[in-house]
Amino acid sequence: MTNEGQRDGDSSGGELGNDRALHDQRAAHYEAHWSRLRDEMAPAFAAGLPLDQLLARHEALNDSRYQGFIAPQIARYLGRLDQRAFAGVAAPDRLVVAEGRYQARPRADQFAVLSAAVSGLADPQVDCIVEFGAGLGVNLGRLAQVLAPLGIHPTYVACEPAAGGRDFAARLFAGGEHRFEAHEFDYLAPEFGFLGRFRRILAFTCHSIEQVSVLGPAFHDGLLRLPLAGGLHLEPVGWQRFTNVAAAVAEAHRSNQALQWYRREYEYVLEDDRVVENAAAWAAASLYNTDLLAQVGRLTDAGRIGLAALAFEIVGENPFNPSTLIAWRPGG
Ligand SMILES: C[S@@+](CC[C@H](N)C(=O)[O-])C[C@H]1O[C@@H](n2cnc3c(N)ncnc32)[C@H](O)[C@@H]1O
Repeated sequence: MTNEGQRDGDSSGGELGNDRALHDQRAAHYEAHWSRLRDEMAPAFAAGLPLDQLLARHEALNDSRYQGFIAPQIARYLGRLDQRAFAGVAAPDRLVVAEGRYQARPRADQFAVLSAAVSGLADPQVDCIVEFGAGLGVNLGRLAQVLAPLGIHPTYVACEPAAGGRDFAARLFAGGEHRFEAHEFDYLAPEFGFLGRFRRILAFTCHSIEQVSVLGPAFHDGLLRLPLAGGLHLEPVGWQRFTNVAAAVAEAHRSNQALQWYRREYEYVLEDDRVVENAAAWAAASLYNTDLLAQVGRLTDAGRIGLAALAFEIVGENPFNPSTLIAWRPGG
């Protein structure tokens, strides 16, 4: 999916991080959005198509929604844009980020990055692959297709607050032979009891921690009490490594004036040396996550996890919200 921004959460000011109204608006948005996509797929589900055909059908529908060099569902959030060398470039090319640079390509393959990283952490003893904030469960479905031929046959677990997403995921997996479960989950009140029976768990997130302004320590602390093979985040948090950039984003979470400046005045310039700054502006304007890198740093410093991979702004389906890959194993 194109991880377009959520721009609800206009505020009269004050501390916006984890604002309850923002949380509720996002929950309502995803409940409606995922239910709509489930209903759109209803004929394919009813026909009892196999998993690969369901995934292909979903991807075709997704593709049909992406029109132009920069999709309107992204462009409408860009207050000001200077396209520089990309002025006049048109579809079927799309503006993407690949390995930290703006590129014009037919598509950005976010799943290829996710799949390679998960395959690198997985082994045949892994009995559970869980995605938190799993949305429609499409990442899990596609991973099942990649991992089964490698002799890896875990239970796939979709953790997702929106019932429409969990329902879609269950119908998707009904077309395959993989073990599957869906559970309600909220990063702000993380519960892991349903994972208690597994012996070797691989956990990942993909553009879902982004939705939580302040994650805090509870999510990783709870996760690390489980028997983990590894963990992985594909999240738009690379800008958090620069303290000056992070301070400017934090200001937008505190001050409505700063927030509105990012939403209306900030100029996105399509130069490679602006990828990080533009990503920070997108995160500020969207009130996205501000502390995932700090949480990972806390755990590496304490020797509770060791990094297996770290690649900043490695891929961007939404070029203004590019993903950073963080893969880790428990222990130092
Ligand atoms: C941009 S979508 C990404 C979905 C999926 N991971 C993917 O890559 O297609 C963000 C997801 O995060 C979920 N989410 C939002 N707030 C959350 C929260 N507090 N706890 C857990 N998931 C949340 C949303 O319901 C939504 O499914």
